[in-house]
Amino acid sequence: MQTITTVAALTAAIQQAKQDHKTIGLVPTMGALHEGHLSLITKAREQNDLVVVSVFVNPIQFNNKEDLAKYPRTVEADCEKLAAAGADIAFVPSVEEMYPEPVETVYHFGPIEEVMEGPRRPGHFSGVAVVVRRLFDLTQPDRAYFGEKDFQQIAIIRNLLEQIKYPIELVPCPIVRADDGLALSSRNMRLSPEARAIAPNIYATLEQAVEMSEYEDVESVHDYVISTLASFHEVNGISEELKFEPEYFEIVNDTTLQPIEDWDDAEGVVGCITVWLNGVRLIDMVRFR
Ligand code: PAF
Repeated sequence: MQTITTVAALTAAIQQAKQDHKTIGLVPTMGALHEGHLSLITKAREQNDLVVVSVFVNPIQFNNKEDLAKYPRTVEADCEKLAAAGADIAFVPSVEEMYPEPVETVYHFGPIEEVMEGPRRPGHFSGVAVVVRRLFDLTQPDRAYFGEKDFQQIAIIRNLLEQIKYPIELVPCPIVRADDGLALSSRNMRLSPEARAIAPNIYATLEQAVEMSEYEDVESVHDYVISTLASFHEVNGISEELKFEPEYFEIVNDTTLQPIEDWDDAEGVVGCITVWLNGVRLIDMVRFR
């Protein structure tokens, strides 16, 4: 595996691959790699001749400075994992290399960014779109791989591709979970051992919600998830410090991301949740229909 840090070296490697008629798979990441990322690389490896993985903590998608500062940076370990997973190129640029000029572009995505993460993280999706487009321009991939844990992000990238009309196949990949059900995330390493031990209750509650959706209406299932998590510490006699604080749980149409009122309102229905636990913002999702 080649580790490339400059745009010039990446451009040369991509030009060579294009001359050799190689197909290119891009896996954009912010590092702190876990099995979830590695599953994207495995998929990209199966489908492409050349697999490029970017490792770049993109400052312009963080609307909270503290969150950016706390984001885990483990580049050396990441590169070892990438080599073992079969990546061909690890692209690890500096901020100056990615953004030599101040970024002025702002993307808009209409109703799909007006729900869930959108209003809570102003500018986040525009920042994601800017970096993803730059990575698309630099790597000219045939396919790009994104994890379904960030379900709204996938809808945003799909919309971005429609706006910029690049012939890139977006490949969504299923969430990878720990044995106890917790969705793998780079943020999990910030949980205390006690918080990590109870964190799987997020997914356990979502699974119960899916069962309930067979016989309960949308509002009742929604309220069940919020109240079960919010009261978990009280019901189980756990300290206040370990309380789940649900930020939102939205049951939405899987294409428009707009909330539904009846299970029959959409062909595809997913539930997306964000919960604070122990100062860490955890997200997860589940498919109802
Ligand atoms: O999902 C992520 O890790 C990031 O949002 C992405 C797509 C790598 C862009 O920085």
